[in-house]
Amino acid sequence: MTNLPATWFVTGTSRGLGLELVRQLLEAGHNVTATTRSTERLTQALADVDTSRLLALEVDLADEAAVAEAVRRTTDRFAGLDVVVNNAGYGFLASVEDTPDADARRMFDVQVFGVWNVLRAVLPIFRTQKRGHVVNISSVLGLVAVPGWGLYCAGKYALEGLTEALAGEVAEFGVKVTLVEPGYFRTSFLTTDSLALPTSTTEGYESIREMTDNHLNLQGSQLGDPVKGAAAIISLVATGEGPLRRLLGSDAYSYASAKVEALQSDIEAGRELAHSTDFPQS
Ligand SMILES: NC(=O)c1ccc[n+]([C@@H]2O[C@H](COP(=O)([O-])OP(=O)(O)OC[C@H]3O[C@@H](n4cnc5c(N)ncnc54)[C@H](OP(=O)(O)O)[C@@H]3O)[C@@H](O)[C@H]2O)c1
Repeated sequence: MTNLPATWFVTGTSRGLGLELVRQLLEAGHNVTATTRSTERLTQALADVDTSRLLALEVDLADEAAVAEAVRRTTDRFAGLDVVVNNAGYGFLASVEDTPDADARRMFDVQVFGVWNVLRAVLPIFRTQKRGHVVNISSVLGLVAVPGWGLYCAGKYALEGLTEALAGEVAEFGVKVTLVEPGYFRTSFLTTDSLALPTSTTEGYESIREMTDNHLNLQGSQLGDPVKGAAAIISLVATGEGPLRRLLGSDAYSYASAKVEALQSDIEAGRELAHSTDFPQS
């Protein structure tokens, strides 16, 4: 990675953090495959950047064969692959009760099964070359679950679980795996371009409707700067250390710290109960 150019594969790139990452990587002279649902939107957004090292591909992340083909085209074009960033994702705001089955499945298609498709395609390359870095963009909501974000949190918690397991599996092959957990970042994430909402909501969940309105009004005041966020991800990879987790944003740091404290307190409160269910020690 420290030798230019490295080859990166980034998903979800026409907006936000993914777009900024692609921009900074190209400006630094790296090769980038950028997957998106719209190469037109992506190339328009990169109009001021030298895109001679860019392979922009329209890929449905839920389609395993399409993902495998995108990875094959990457290695054909750039003769290798060094870093994969599973970045594509979106929010869905509704109570658990108001979350339709189709929306739940769509979310998992992108945030879980889509990531798994990318992993199945790239891991044979990383394992064989005994080198590579997987960066999965989770969220502080992959560590902390809050009302109204049940589906999003379910997707990010699933991503955290599979990523943590993966890190243990591939360490012996020299492959690094990192979860990046942002707080609120000023991207399109909280706009209706990205955020999904249920078609109807049940009476009684007024506080969730209010929370949804408040979040739509947050746009423009999020603490996180996507330019700094993308630069932080590139630096994380460049160090070659491959930490399992890194939070981005002071808000993420506070929420995660409070969660660890609450979790520790719950674990201690249940200490006696946990020990009480063992067979007696002979
Ligand atoms: N911004 C935040 O506050 C925040 C906080 C924590 C975590 N995150 C995570 O950071 C990552 C990037 O989000 P962002 O903040 O950059 O938001 P964004 O500006 O909305 O960009 C999200 C990207 O994900 C892709 N995407 C969105 N919906 C998709 C769908 N249904 N199917 C496939 N791809 C889809 C889009 O790619 P194309 O349109 O190019 O296909 C888009 O470029 C996400 O995983 C998000 O969950 C964001």
